[in-house]
Amino acid sequence: MRITRSDASLPQVERGTPITVSIDGQSVVAYAGETVAAVLLAQGRRTFRQTARTGAGRGLFCGIGICYDCLVTVDGMPNVRACLTPVAAGAVIETGTKVGHE
Ligand code: FES
Repeated sequence: MRITRSDASLPQVERGTPITVSIDGQSVVAYAGETVAAVLLAQGRRTFRQTARTGAGRGLFCGIGICYDCLVTVDGMPNVRACLTPVAAGAVIETGTKVGHE
C-alpha cells in the first residue's frame, strides 16, 4: 500500500512516472524513483528471500544496504539489494531465492 494522501500540514506526495514491472511473473505498476524494496512493500510483500540453511524468510531490515536481507533477482542478476536498487520500466523482479547463511 502506498500513501495516497498526506496530511494538509505536510508536503504533497509527488510520484514519478508510472511504469510497469514484473514481480514473480505478475505485472504491477511502480513509479520511477522508487526502489525495488518500495515496490515489493507496496505490493504487500514482506518476505523477499529465504535463508539457504533453514529457509527462514528475510525482507527489508536495515533499508540502507548493510544487512543483505533484501536480496532479490532483477533481470536475471541474482543477489541484488532491493533497498538500494531503483526500479526500471520493464524490470523482471524475482523473490524467494534461497541465499546466504543461517
Ligand atoms: S534491507 Fe539491509 S541491505 Fe537491504
